[in-house]
Amino acid sequence: MTPSVRAVDVILAKRRGDAHDRDTLEGFIGGYVRGEVPDYQVAAWLMAVVWRGMTERETADLTEVMADSGERLDLAEFAHPVDKHSTGGVGDKTTLVLAPLLAALGASVAKMSGRGLGHTGGTIDKLEAIPGFRAELDREAFFRQVREIGVAVTGQTRALAPADGLLYALRDATGTVASLPLIASSIMSKKLAGGARTIVLDVKVGHGAFMRTPDEARALAASMVAIGHHAGRTVRAVLSNMDEPLGTAVGHALEVREALATLRGAGPPDLRELVLTLAGELLEAAGLVTGRGEVEAALDDGRALERFERWVAAQGGDVARLDDLEVATETADWCADASGYLTSIDAQKVGAAVSHLGGGRRQKGDVLDLGVGAVMRAKVGDAVRAGEPLVTLHHRDGRGLEAAWATLAGAASIGERGERRPLVLEVVR
Ligand code: URA
Repeated sequence: MTPSVRAVDVILAKRRGDAHDRDTLEGFIGGYVRGEVPDYQVAAWLMAVVWRGMTERETADLTEVMADSGERLDLAEFAHPVDKHSTGGVGDKTTLVLAPLLAALGASVAKMSGRGLGHTGGTIDKLEAIPGFRAELDREAFFRQVREIGVAVTGQTRALAPADGLLYALRDATGTVASLPLIASSIMSKKLAGGARTIVLDVKVGHGAFMRTPDEARALAASMVAIGHHAGRTVRAVLSNMDEPLGTAVGHALEVREALATLRGAGPPDLRELVLTLAGELLEAAGLVTGRGEVEAALDDGRALERFERWVAAQGGDVARLDDLEVATETADWCADASGYLTSIDAQKVGAAVSHLGGGRRQKGDVLDLGVGAVMRAKVGDAVRAGEPLVTLHHRDGRGLEAAWATLAGAASIGERGERRPLVLEVVR
């Protein structure tokens, strides 16, 4: 930390509600990454940010400082480097369908994805449900694959935006995750460091999401789009409903199966709709397509599927076993306690139930059971009858089942009128 910036003064300034300048943020965050500012001072500062907020300029500066805390990927050799980020949801297997679809339409997808923590699953863990799939690629293999196939997905490296890795872990442990400037800078620092020129953000809204209301989600989306714009990137944000899990499958192998079905022209309508919307926005912004019809055609005529299989094979996955993924065969149904229409089903609780069965991590490093999960037997708006299944759990010998039942208690609401909510609420450009 530079001698002119004292950590305690930074905390006091934010406690008063002052805006920091870029030098101050560089000194403070840089000092933290180098180990010169201790966790407890950064934790106090984070809490002050939660309460006092940040100006738009401050949030943009914080993002750049975090993006500069490690290396930035240079994707200049690719004509259309694109990226997508979801703020996190349950049953969200979108990347598995979207990435090969984008590649099939001429985009280069050089993507870092995360592992799951808590009730949301991670793309990297899902891909590892495919036998042989290697999620860690060295730089050379990563770039070669993007050149040859147009898509490579690897785990988050510590080299990219390391400040975010440190801050996120501290936020998780200090109740300071839910803050607009902190979420916006966390997400956008990784996107800026990742090098893509055109980015689409899937901002989830609802029970299973960080943003519970459309207003909160809109504000987060606008902030991230503005940060991207300042940094010379084209960013669009799609606000999508997370009042229930996306699609019908929750759990790693089950979600890969559902993604595969979608690539084969079947799959649940909400997943297909979200994929087409995200792809349409991204490819139009990148100047690669002019209408949704072109995107739909690549999904329906097998081009995206063919790209998916080449991608999986390039990362060591056994394509011949895609139809034979290991899924826990013991099942138990969670049933409706009344007749009527399903009006909501808490995605966060469904994700937590799957976690209890062994499908989620309590701590970093926990080994996941990739074969357990949940299948939604009804979607919001469907007519349901008392005693009929709403959710089927796939478990191993009943492990975690009691805790899953307890978590699901009260997760569903059944009412007298069926109403489907729109999946895509709006697009912020
Ligand atoms: N996703 C992120 O990457 N960071 C956050 O702060 C929240 C969601």
